[in-house]
Order: sequence, then structure tokens, then C-alpha cells
Amino acid sequence: MTKVITYGTFDLFHQGHINLLKRAKALGDYLIVGVTTDNFDLERGKLNTCNNVMERIEAVRSSGLADQIIIEEYRGQKIDDIHRYGVDIFAIGSDWTGYFDYLKEFCKVVYLPRTEGISSTQLRDERNTVEIGMIGTGSIARRFLDEAEFVSNCSITAVYNPDAAQCEAFCKKAGIEACKSTGELFAKCNSVYIASPHFTHYDYAKAALAAGKHVLCETPLVLKESEAKELFALAKEKSLVLMMAHKTAYCPAFGHLIALLQSGAIGDIVDINAATSTLTDENDPKMDSRLFGGSMNENACFPLLPILRLAGTDYRDCFFISKMKDGVDIYTKGLLVCDHTAASFEVGLGAKTEGSLVVSGTKGYAYVPAPWWKTSYFELRYEDQNQNKTYFYPFAGEGLRYEIKEFISAILAKGYFYSKLPVKEILAMTRIQEAFIAGRNVRHLK
Ligand code: CTP
Repeated sequence: MTKVITYGTFDLFHQGHINLLKRAKALGDYLIVGVTTDNFDLERGKLNTCNNVMERIEAVRSSGLADQIIIEEYRGQKIDDIHRYGVDIFAIGSDWTGYFDYLKEFCKVVYLPRTEGISSTQLRDERNTVEIGMIGTGSIARRFLDEAEFVSNCSITAVYNPDAAQCEAFCKKAGIEACKSTGELFAKCNSVYIASPHFTHYDYAKAALAAGKHVLCETPLVLKESEAKELFALAKEKSLVLMMAHKTAYCPAFGHLIALLQSGAIGDIVDINAATSTLTDENDPKMDSRLFGGSMNENACFPLLPILRLAGTDYRDCFFISKMKDGVDIYTKGLLVCDHTAASFEVGLGAKTEGSLVVSGTKGYAYVPAPWWKTSYFELRYEDQNQNKTYFYPFAGEGLRYEIKEFISAILAKGYFYSKLPVKEILAMTRIQEAFIAGRNVRHLK
């Protein structure tokens, strides 16, 4: 019996896939089809698949062409599979010609003709495009623009900043239309990305939702829990997506770290410490008290993410120690007491800390080195060092593409969508920032 194996993502299963599977099957008696997992696709930079792995497997299965379906989840797996399944022929489309010649050492390699005029990329592009209007033209907006290029089905159609000169300058460089009002912006998009100063988020988000636009808003979403609740209620009422832009929350490595810890990889979690500091010029708007600048407002959503995810959002007490300068906290240390876990964090715009994340458990601990919020590498460490494990992942570009992809997927899903950053965590982050702004349990260093 001649065994043939082939691999693919098989997103939006199409005629090209069917032809390829038929041609592969005709090479032998038994066809094994490897379907890539969602994580593996993310790892290799394929951010834009529309169907999840279960749907893609189902599509291959229902074609009736595969005798066996396996999942491909790691680089180098093809060699293992060839040995494991006793494969005689490895077949793949001609777009890969030459790329898999290294497998010739293990079996015959055949590049099959590709079907012209159809591809998953083309089908994805034909789906609805989410038109994003941007509010704000600072450095994060610039990065957002660059990162959006990597995500399918979205385009930045308009930009607004009340400072017309700044808006014009930004748009001229980017080749996008500058708008003179939010009304004009809303008319040119079906969703809005808010990257303006913190204290303006609430008004912009409310206006965008009222105008029927989906909203992706930079951290912190708003500065009062009541405002956050109101916005989420409004989004629900209007069946709109309201998401907080948080690059760590949507990055694959962070998701895997959390899943490992939640499944008991280091036993029960007793302590979490996370720090995020970014030394910032004194004249930067982030250091302006009138604009609600400062370390807590600017950075706290990052360390609070693993803390609230792992320790829960029902903390008992929350304390802060801050170093102030010109009305803003240039450094704050926070302490959260939860039922089962102690958690502490440090944020700084005017003080530099070691930016690592350490989660301590009854059987071991997780260590994520700085900058942990761009998670790409972490270690699980144990008393017996032989048990230690290290994990590596790519963190593509600036990482914003993960949150943009999530936003686009949520909009295109038009209904049920599981968000990687639940509302209750955003509400808890807001509650903690609000307590800090109100001066509750805040002590000041001299
Ligand atoms: N394939 C083909 N003809 C097409 C499209 C794909 O023969 N028109 C083959 C590919 O060469 C590969 C297999 O189908 O052997 C699975 O490819 P996959 O990457 O899943 O499909 P694409 O449509 O090429 O996806 P994308 O546009 O995302 O690259």
C-alpha cells in the first residue's frame, strides 16, 4: 500500500483544496491530511484564518478524500509523521516547489499543480472589510496603522484629531483622509479605534457606539467603573463590539502561559508579581496630570491582567504606595489581597524597575523575563531543576496585530464570540484605577 501525506491550513475550504486532495490521493492508496492548529498558524505568522481548526478539519473530512486526518502543531512534525505513519510520498501544491526538498531523505516528494484563480487569501479578501476610523494621532496610532497592514479584512479609512494641524500632518504621511469632526469620521467607517488621551475615551466611545460603530479603545478603557458598565451595556443593546486594545491579552504566548498555570502546572497559585515600567520624558503628555497621565493610568492595565486572570477579580483589599512629581505618580507599587493569592505590581514612567512577571505556586513558579508584556519566552521552574521547562513563541512586530485581528474577528463573527479579555476583568482594572485616582488606600513617598 502506498501512503501519501499532505498538509495545509484549508481555511474557507475551496475548489483548489479539493483538486489538490484528489491529485494527492491519486498518487497512492491511502491519503493522510495534516491540518494546522490555530496556534501553529499564529506561530508561523498566519494571523488571518477565518475558520478555526475544528471547522477546517470538518471541511477536509466532509470532502471524503482523506483516509486519515491528523493535526500539525509544531515545526519539524513532518519528519516525525513520515516515520510514524510509514509515509511513501509527501505531496504539496506547486507554490511550495523546492521548499520541502529536505524531506527527500525520508520519502518521495511531489509538488502538485496548483489550481489557478482561487486561494483562501482571495476568499478572505472578498469577505466584508471592516473600515476603521481612528481617533488620535500619537505614536500608538502610528504603530496601529503599520500593524493593521498584517490583518485581513480591515482598512483604515479615516482619521480624526481635534488638533487639525496634527491631524493633517499625520494623514498626509499615511495617505489617509483627515476628518474635521467625529461626525465626519463616523460617516466614513463602521468601527472606531480610540487612541486619544485617557480622559477623552468615555465621550468618544459613547459617541461612536451611539452612532452604531464598533469600538476598540486603548487602555485604560475609561477611568470610572460606572462609565465602563454603561459603555458595555450600550454596546450590548446595540449588538456592537466594544473591546479594550491590550496587546498582551491577545498574544498567543500569554494565552498559553495562562492556560498552563490554570491547569495546575505550578500547583495552587499563592503569589503574583508583575512590573511594567517605561521611562518617559517629563514633557510627554503621559506625564501631564491634567490629561490623567501618570504610571497607574498609563501602565496598570498590563500587570493587572495576569493578576486578575489568575487571582480572580474579587479581591478583598487593594493598597498603593506612590512617588509623585508635579501631580502625577511617576512610580506606584500596588498590593492586592485576594482570598487565595497575594499579588503585587509596580508601574513606573519616572522610575525603572525589572519588568518581569513571576507567578509562585505550591509546586513551582513561572518566570517571564522583561518585557513580559510582550510575552515571547517563559520558564516553569521547580525545586528539582530537571523538571524545569522553557517555552518560546514569536511575538510578531509590535504585537498590536493580535488585538486588531481579534477585533476584526469579533465583528465578522456577527454573534457569539469568545473574548480573550472578559468584561469582568476590564471592570476590575477600571475599579482599581478609579480607587487610585480617588486616593483610596494610597500612601505617598517623600
Ligand atoms: N492549493 C492548491 N490550489 C489552490 C490553493 C491551494 O493546490 N488554488 C494547495 C496548496 O498548494 C496546499 C494546499 O492546497 O498544498 C493547502 O493550502 P492552503 O495554504 O491551506 O490554501 P491556500 O488557498 O493557498 O491558502 P492561503 O491563501 O492562505 O495561502
